[in-house]
Amino acid sequence: MISLNIEKTLGFISKENVFAYEAQVKAAQEALENGTGKGNDFLGWLHLPSSITKEHLADLKATAQTLRDNCEVVVVAGIGGSYLGARAVIEALSNSFTWLQDKKTAPVILYAGHNIGEDYLYELTEYLKDKKFGVINISKSGTTTETALAFRLLKKQCEDQRGKEMAKKVIVAITDAKKGAARVTADNEGYKSFIIPDNVGGRFSVLTPVGLLPIAIAGFDIEKLVAGAVGMEKTCGKDVPFAENPAAIYAATRNELYKNGKKIEILVNYNPKLHYVSEWWKQLYGESEGKENKGIFPAAVDFSTDLHSMGQWIQEGERTIYETVISVEKTQHSLQVPSDEANLDGLNFLAGKHVDEVNKMAELGTQLAHVDGGVPNMRIVIPALNEESIGGLLYFFEIACGISGYILGVNPFNQPGVEAYKKNMFALLNKPGYEEESKAIQARL
Ligand code: PA5
Repeated sequence: MISLNIEKTLGFISKENVFAYEAQVKAAQEALENGTGKGNDFLGWLHLPSSITKEHLADLKATAQTLRDNCEVVVVAGIGGSYLGARAVIEALSNSFTWLQDKKTAPVILYAGHNIGEDYLYELTEYLKDKKFGVINISKSGTTTETALAFRLLKKQCEDQRGKEMAKKVIVAITDAKKGAARVTADNEGYKSFIIPDNVGGRFSVLTPVGLLPIAIAGFDIEKLVAGAVGMEKTCGKDVPFAENPAAIYAATRNELYKNGKKIEILVNYNPKLHYVSEWWKQLYGESEGKENKGIFPAAVDFSTDLHSMGQWIQEGERTIYETVISVEKTQHSLQVPSDEANLDGLNFLAGKHVDEVNKMAELGTQLAHVDGGVPNMRIVIPALNEESIGGLLYFFEIACGISGYILGVNPFNQPGVEAYKKNMFALLNKPGYEEESKAIQARL
């Protein structure tokens, strides 16, 4: 379903050294399977795809249908792992322009709770003023400030505009089974709710209702998405030989590159629809591996757009980077370059070619140039932008991340570092319970 090619890293590291990770990969796989490694209370994602039942999908689809029937717009309120997965899949699969048309086949999906922008929230609430809208409030902890703040505004507006009864129908909560303010509100108000399993961390939760519900509302086939992930669960299983397991090879190669001074991985795409897959991937790897003063820095670019900005740095800047290119084999549509008699733009050499042929040559030409410039390149090929491929790609990155984090020696499933800013923000805002921190931080200002 996906293929990984590391040939163009081999002028920089040796195949022998990559294959020398076999034992470490095996140990990481055993630790994941047996739950004996760090963060072993967060391994619910590992066999999540194959454990999703038809009944669960039917429940999600029925709720999605209620929102589809009653909403022109659905706002997904969430941040980090509680939003990026849904956005990644929806943007990868959506037509880039139909949301601008008057006649829509699915509600427009908008996002909130992933920033604290007053203008953003003002403009969103203004836009929603004459819309039949619903809200999915997604937060595992149920207490994340960004999301809670946006939800407070949206809940009030939805109730004011649509009435309490309809609001109850079009507001859904996805949160912890028992704890957190989002759970309390959902239970008090009688919202339909879905549970985020205790043992699935935010950034590994795309195949829980966190991702599946918004994706179903947007009109995509969550059965096929899950089927793609199930396929990848098999392809990357622990009994698959090292050389045939793309997740094992990816994890080993990136660790070997890191050991050789390549501190930054740039995820490259040649399809603008993959922008948010990169955002999701950045969180997955950044939050999982960036700790104990180590970890590859995950960066991302959209080519060929960013070849006209970041391309210079990548070609000739500090040689601490490598690239992982996601290449989509087949386009969804067909468009050929027309011939032009006057040829004033000099483009007749492209006449008759598909736009994607030009894109693929940009990709190949760039890869060769960057390798010549000292940038090792890996290439992941997916067959097409469809539910199966994307489901497979997401699971591939998750399992590779678990293996890679264990090779690095960190706990890939916690994120202690994100608490530091929250503590300061709460102290500065005089949140009850932060009195000592408030005093301490005032003294520093
Ligand atoms: O991966 C993670 O755990 C985080 O990115 C969380 O998803 C993010 O902080 C949002 O947390 P919550 O779902 O509790 O609102």
